[in-house]
Amino acid sequence: MKIIFSSSPLDEKKVDESYEQEYVCAKELGFEVGLVHLEELIVNKRPELAVRRLKHATEREDVLYRGWMLTPEAYGLLYKALASKNLYLINTPEQYKHCHYLPESYDVIKGYTPHSVWVPMSVIQASPDAVKEATRQFGNRPIIVKDYVKSRKHEWKEACYIPDAADEEHVKQVVHNFVRLQGEELNVGLVFREYVQLEFLSYHDQSGMPLSREMRVFMLDGKPAYISNYWDEGQDEAFRDALTSFLDIAQTIQSRFYTMDFAKVEGGSWIVLELGDGQVAGLPDYADPLTFYEQLKIALV
Ligand SMILES: Nc1ncnc2c1ncn2[C@@H]1O[C@H](COP(=O)(O)OP(=O)(O)O)[C@@H](O)[C@H]1O
Ligand SMILES: [Mg+2]
Repeated sequence: MKIIFSSSPLDEKKVDESYEQEYVCAKELGFEVGLVHLEELIVNKRPELAVRRLKHATEREDVLYRGWMLTPEAYGLLYKALASKNLYLINTPEQYKHCHYLPESYDVIKGYTPHSVWVPMSVIQASPDAVKEATRQFGNRPIIVKDYVKSRKHEWKEACYIPDAADEEHVKQVVHNFVRLQGEELNVGLVFREYVQLEFLSYHDQSGMPLSREMRVFMLDGKPAYISNYWDEGQDEAFRDALTSFLDIAQTIQSRFYTMDFAKVEGGSWIVLELGDGQVAGLPDYADPLTFYEQLKIALV
């Protein structure tokens, strides 16, 4: 499996510095590596130029992308441009979208994840009461707000956490902050999720957001390929036991390579927090990229 990384925005011959460590590790482990230039894809809308540094394969070849998040539209363009070179991304555009947008996979994970509702921005713009209606069903319980892909977790109090869903003024304020801060980057619409008290670890040393006992698992073909604590160092052996009870649903997710994030409920069991496409999910801060690629190599055999 060839791995293609985002190249530097300033020099398409170099890997983006945020992925340099991963690129070096993948190469060291014998993966064939390549580069894709996102400026051509996203800004100039020239997908054929974005992939021009990759050779046409004589036979159909699978490739895996590691780089910045792409909208499903941009991913679709990249998929097509690569396919015209006989290079096939590990996930089809449909599979990418399935894990990238929470509403797409919610039905599959809903027994294991906080209750969630969503409203597209187009609906909110057309109907001023749409947010009120969406949050009403949470009563006066705490909720969090995010878009179809991302939250503003590091602006926790200002733009993520809402202590009382019935406090209309406060809901309005946090939603307003979230929409303003996401700006052009806002993905499709708003998702409101029941807030669950998670097992507390510490506060983030830069943003002050509360950090909980959370794990990120990279799944390949329905099986865990790489497991890492999300916020802290070390191993969480207790989690590895808990993970076995999620392997059945892991196989029903419509994606070859994706992440499943978990959190431990205070005094309770583990839940699924969110899914992501494995190609654009970051390695947690304390994860070792060499081990990640070693385990990926084993899982790909
Ligand atoms: N329903 C929830 N209840 C409690 N905490 C949550 C909930 N959803 C998210 N969080 C906290 O907020 C963080 C960010 O949420 P997440 O859905 O992972 O968004 P992002 O895509 O920005 O990472 C999580 O890592 C977790 O600590
Ligand atoms: Mg997350």
